[in-house]
Amino acid sequence: MSEPPTIADVRAAGDDALARLSAAPTLDELRSLGSELLGKRGALAGFKQRLGSLDPDARRTLGQAVNDAVAKAQAAHDRRHRELAADARRVQLEAERLDLTEVVISPRRGHAHLVTQAWERLEDVFVGMGFRVAEGPEVETDFHNFEALNMGVGHPARSEFDTLFVDFGPPGSTVLRTHTSPVQIRVMQSQPPPIYIVAPGRVFRRDTPDATHMPVFHQIEGLVVDRGITFADLAGTIQAFTEAFFGTGFSSRLRPSYFPFTEPSAEFDIQRPDGTWLELGGCGMVHPNVLRAGGIDPEEFTGFAFGFGIDRFGKEWAGIDDLREMFTNDIRFLEQF
Ligand code: PHE
Repeated sequence: MSEPPTIADVRAAGDDALARLSAAPTLDELRSLGSELLGKRGALAGFKQRLGSLDPDARRTLGQAVNDAVAKAQAAHDRRHRELAADARRVQLEAERLDLTEVVISPRRGHAHLVTQAWERLEDVFVGMGFRVAEGPEVETDFHNFEALNMGVGHPARSEFDTLFVDFGPPGSTVLRTHTSPVQIRVMQSQPPPIYIVAPGRVFRRDTPDATHMPVFHQIEGLVVDRGITFADLAGTIQAFTEAFFGTGFSSRLRPSYFPFTEPSAEFDIQRPDGTWLELGGCGMVHPNVLRAGGIDPEEFTGFAFGFGIDRFGKEWAGIDDLREMFTNDIRFLEQF
């Protein structure tokens, strides 16, 4: 039998195993080095098998050295395994990475639609004048859209609104709102005076599109209810608004007209600096029946209301001659405004 192994032999074998395991270049190679050096047939295991033939003292010291060497080699194996596994994960992640920020063409910054711009500017001007912004649903009850606005069933003025009925509830009870005036009723029913609101929104009529009409369009409603409100307040508000929105050089006029929900009623026009007129909308003193429908005592409070088309504003503002252009969604057209 050969010479019994010395502690130096064990350390040399241990250092060799540690060095080779620490330098393993791949997980596969680490695995085969692991079974070669730490397995049953490895050099270190061989030392263990030979311990039995040693005397007890030598067996203890050499056994200790073998255990140390195995523990260090095992630790080196585990450390290297963690490193290689982490590397492999990194490589895999990099290979499978999806670059979600990649763009083929550089993005173009868009902007709000002309109608949205007009809508927001109108809100800004009215908020600056002390109004609050209110809103109501686009699908309305006959009550809010007509009845409470002093247009009972069979009222001839109903026929001026080419209504789109919705198949919901009893026939004729639900409509796509034909104007923003129903918001007047909703606001009056939800809060006591003083009321100073504007209500911009989308409205619908059974209309054939032409240069100045669309079946879907936008209005902004105004409602003021307070003590001692007069027609002079209405005229002054419209004039102040005209100057705030269009600038000096523009003025407004009221022409007698008729709406079931206001009395007296007027149309209001705006005069451009070149003297031409733009018809904008309707207005008037809130009819006592409408105040009552809103739960307000007409003996105690009076008010005025107005409503006009936002799209016509945008059209005027941008100098467009056909409303339909604004809604065909041709980006080459829209991006000019
Ligand atoms: N609702 C009316 C329309 O759509 C406009 C209007 C609003 C008139 C408020 C008077 C008062 O034609």
